[in-house]
Amino acid sequence: NAPLRLGIAGLGTVGIGVVKTVRQHSALLSARTGRDVSITAVSARSRDKDRGVNLSAYAWEDDPVALATRDDVDVYVELMGGTDGPAKASVDAAIAAGKDVVTANKAMLAIHGQSLAEAAETAGVSLRYEAAVAGGIPVIKALTEGLAGNDITRIVGVMNGSCNYILTRMESAGLSYDEVFAEADGLGYLEADPQLDVGGIDAAHKLAILSSIAFGTRVDFDGIELEGIERVSINDIRHADDMGFKIKLLGVAQRTGRGLEQRMMPCLVPATSPMGQLQGGTNMVAIEGDAVEQIVLRGPGAGEGPTASAVMGDVCDIARGVRLPVFGQPAASLEQADRATAVLP
Ligand code: NAP
Ligand code: HSE
Repeated sequence: NAPLRLGIAGLGTVGIGVVKTVRQHSALLSARTGRDVSITAVSARSRDKDRGVNLSAYAWEDDPVALATRDDVDVYVELMGGTDGPAKASVDAAIAAGKDVVTANKAMLAIHGQSLAEAAETAGVSLRYEAAVAGGIPVIKALTEGLAGNDITRIVGVMNGSCNYILTRMESAGLSYDEVFAEADGLGYLEADPQLDVGGIDAAHKLAILSSIAFGTRVDFDGIELEGIERVSINDIRHADDMGFKIKLLGVAQRTGRGLEQRMMPCLVPATSPMGQLQGGTNMVAIEGDAVEQIVLRGPGAGEGPTASAVMGDVCDIARGVRLPVFGQPAASLEQADRATAVLP
């Protein structure tokens, strides 16, 4: 079988994790997919930055669009981030050039998911994004494949590791939100724009993607009732604790008699429940379906290894020739979400 040739744009935490995984597991990837998986070209902002790995074997492109459309690239792996800009332009170009695409970019998918899915399905290419939601947890695969025979009724989860770190650290160290925020920022745990994390936006991007798959609706980020963790005080955490609860930034998506309800906000959860005991950057997603009842997935929501693991799962599927509708059913058949309206008391 012909080798599968990757072009990787973005050589930060995730991109370098993918480079390392392709190198370390070349025999394993070949055995599992029946094809050699190799990297032919890479791109990032700075060519001179020391990234701790030798990249000299790969062609360099300054422009991600040029990388995405190279003849010697079969799969374009977008790991730069950002809703628009080079990420969107290069993914558009890759799809137009008939390349399969793998991305970890939840911000782009939450806003442009529908048009990208339609373009990919029209072009007959894959658009895969396991790493975009809950890092190393294969929740997209669970929803689109393992649970495809279920009518999904509800998804509940902790989907942002940074917020969970801040909330659990405030509690364990008795520190204020501002103190822990500064600490987390200093440790490099927060996004370049921390508001994406603490404002609940990053987690809401992920929830919007999961909702689309689960409920057969177009990604509806704007339909999410959203509140971040910035106003959670140490007193709130102490009062919750006195009553036997923890405060978690919880995402909930469910069908109700009034339409699709999507919420991302700080919630009380029982302290002794698995969700209540979730520490640090760990993510947890509970999915309820009519046949399966409930499954709970738990694991690292971010980081070099876990996120590269998810990207490589997608790459392996493409190497094996697995082709799935982007959001679990043809994009053209996804319905407009009928949003639940608030019931006034
Ligand atoms: P990162 O460490 O900030 O790396 C971003 C990379 O993109 C850098 O190598 C940067 O180049 C490159 N880049 C940025 N703008 C570019 C441009 N205009 N042209 C070419 N290259 C450009 O980010 P990351 O944490 O790896 O995240 C990458 C993606 O994965 C994002 O969509 C993120 O949301 C998603 N994600 C991340 C995690 C995680 O744990 N980090 C988990 C899940 C999903 P330079 O290095 O030269 O600056
Ligand atoms: N900022 C994100 C988080 C990164 O903390 O969960 C992984 O998506």
